Amino acid sequence: MQASLICFEPQCRSRFPITEVLYNCPVCGGLLEAVYEGDRLEPAHWKKVWRERRLSNAPLDQSGVWRYRELFPFLDSDAHVVTLREGDTPLLPGPKASAYGGLDRIVFKHQGFNPTGSFKDNGMTCGAAQARRLGMKRVACVSTGNTSASMAAYASAGGLEPIIFIPHGNISYGKLAQALEYGARTLQVEANFDQILALVRVLAEKLGIYLLNSINPFRIEGQKSIVIEMMDQRDWNPPDWIVLPGGNLGNTSAFGKALRELHAGGFIAKMPRLAVIQAEGAAPFFDFMQKGGEFHPVIHPATLATAIKIGDPVSWPKALLEVTTSQGVVEKVSEQEIADAKAVIGQCGIGCEPASAATLAGVRKLTAAGVILPDADVVAVLTGNVLKDPDYIYGYHTGSLKDPAGAAIRSSFGNAPTVVPNDPAAIERLLGA
Ligand code: F0G
Repeated sequence: MQASLICFEPQCRSRFPITEVLYNCPVCGGLLEAVYEGDRLEPAHWKKVWRERRLSNAPLDQSGVWRYRELFPFLDSDAHVVTLREGDTPLLPGPKASAYGGLDRIVFKHQGFNPTGSFKDNGMTCGAAQARRLGMKRVACVSTGNTSASMAAYASAGGLEPIIFIPHGNISYGKLAQALEYGARTLQVEANFDQILALVRVLAEKLGIYLLNSINPFRIEGQKSIVIEMMDQRDWNPPDWIVLPGGNLGNTSAFGKALRELHAGGFIAKMPRLAVIQAEGAAPFFDFMQKGGEFHPVIHPATLATAIKIGDPVSWPKALLEVTTSQGVVEKVSEQEIADAKAVIGQCGIGCEPASAATLAGVRKLTAAGVILPDADVVAVLTGNVLKDPDYIYGYHTGSLKDPAGAAIRSSFGNAPTVVPNDPAAIERLLGA
């Protein structure tokens, strides 16, 4: 198999060696993607091999990413791989969430079961492998929290030095704590995600640091495995819809690329539709899809779902192709809708972080509008673990959560703790009632 980097822009399509350190096309500035040329993979044979690898004790086979390595063959040697046994995330039914979402049945693919608690691990294992293959010593990212937690872990595990840039005061403590614990050099910059990304791109080039944001095409290759594994778990029967939150739109790009490649390769018989959900205060992609014309970033993005608090998503051109090709839709949801959907996912015994709950909130809106039908086969991807943002949870259940404008969020499904005296009779009275 021959792997190359190719400019994503249709009128350019310039080609570069897979071993060049590039994030944008040097000819036109477009986004880059990895492409592979060579013998076609025989679906029946490989589906069997991938299934058999689940029984193997080899680290690469145990990884829910590298198990499918033939679908992103960009490495020259497996020795570069850093694996923490990422992927292998479950499909979980949530009956209460189905009813809330207006569906007969919804299933969650929970990426919060990953080693650092988010879907970023699927991509980071590939990004870290490429960094090692290129002989890089230092890696960097700007992050709303999950990318930095993931990069810190994979870099440290792989002998690379992680440097992370985060918007000061705007990421959850769970995520910041992970970066510190995994040994990352952590810079809290007094600017928002979009501003810091612009800064870090210049710095990374100057200082010879490898950038591991989702603009890095190898992150996207790894995140394809979320959808590939989902299809394998469903015996290669695609759902009608795959619903996911949209921030920087790397995941949307990865899901779409995976689906197109699986479809073209004869692994799946139809393309599921993508439904991308944004938070109302950070919804530039939604606006663009509604209005058309030029892409206008949101200058001051605002949402409590800090993971998707992004106003200028770098991967929007790729996401546009993927939403269009899959006959997908883009929706936006309010802070209240995210908070309530999140509590409902919690009541299913599943739980997730705020950005992930945008999926169920979006499904509820799209079924109400008749876009998704009640009997549709829907998989919603929960991108992050419930423990990522405990402050938000406590605020919601105790009625003290406020939206970015300072307005109170109703705890419609609130479950506040009760303070009781050290008095058995009083507690008995309380529980007996
Ligand atoms: N959900 C969670 C939990 C995230 O952390 C992110 C992105 C998204 C959804 C959106 O995914 O950017 O691919 O559209 N978090 C990034 C970070 C930006 O820095 O951790 P996207």
